[in-house]
Amino acid sequence: MLIVRKNDELRALLGDRRRSGQRIGFVPTMGNLHAGHYSLIARARQCCDFVVASIFVNPTQFGINEDFSRYPRTPEQDALGLGENGCDLLFLPDVETIYPLGHARAVSVHVPELGDVLEGASRPGHFDGVATVVARLFNRVQPDAAVFGSKDYQQLLVIRRMTFDLGFPVEIIAAPIIRESNGLAMSSRNQYLDAAQRGQAGAIHETLRWMAGQLDDAVQSAADIEAAAIQRLADAGLDPDYAVIRSIADLARPLPDDVGQAVILIAARLGPVRLIDNLEWNASKALPNGK
Ligand code: PAF
Repeated sequence: MLIVRKNDELRALLGDRRRSGQRIGFVPTMGNLHAGHYSLIARARQCCDFVVASIFVNPTQFGINEDFSRYPRTPEQDALGLGENGCDLLFLPDVETIYPLGHARAVSVHVPELGDVLEGASRPGHFDGVATVVARLFNRVQPDAAVFGSKDYQQLLVIRRMTFDLGFPVEIIAAPIIRESNGLAMSSRNQYLDAAQRGQAGAIHETLRWMAGQLDDAVQSAADIEAAAIQRLADAGLDPDYAVIRSIADLARPLPDDVGQAVILIAARLGPVRLIDNLEWNASKALPNGK
């Protein structure tokens, strides 16, 4: 696997691939890779001839009291894992390569509305940072397709909208969430949890499934399901931020004629970590008895 740190070298190498007719797939990451990330590489491999991953812990998507300085950085281990999992090129830029004017003076991308609710409301500026860095990475890599994990559901929608509105000719592919055996969605931040907390965090997926079951049963209103879910999370020892049922297109509250399909999203704090997870719900998949 090639490792490239500078824009010029990246452009030259990928230009050669493009001219020889290869389709370029891209998986942007912040490193500290796990099975969830490797599943994104495998997805990119399915549809592309040459797979590029980036590792860049993006300063602009962290709030001032968040974990930017202690975010786990394991580039050597990640490079080995990427090589073993079918990645062709690792782009490993420093801050100057991505933000030549420094990130405080950087031109930034804001995705209105979609970027301002839920995670955007709890973490102001977070999605400006995500949209900005993904736009910058797209400009450098110029991929044909880019793969993102569905765990960060709102991020995926923000990136889709940014890609469409700025006219990037990039196909955005959503890959399924990879979970631990107790349902906990894989995330680099799970390593901040001790063994007992990892067990406790299984309550998030359990609650998502419970909420989907309630939607199948169609007895309680969405607002009642959301309120009961908050209580279930609190009873399991988590500190819930939200447990909501929203439209899959724009995260608005589902309108009466959109109720056949929704996404259920949860964010909850557990010890030092804020965990997020989601489940798409489709009425046609519910069995007649609602189970
Ligand atoms: O999901 C992530 O790891 C990051 O938000 C991303 C998309 C790589 C942008 O920094």
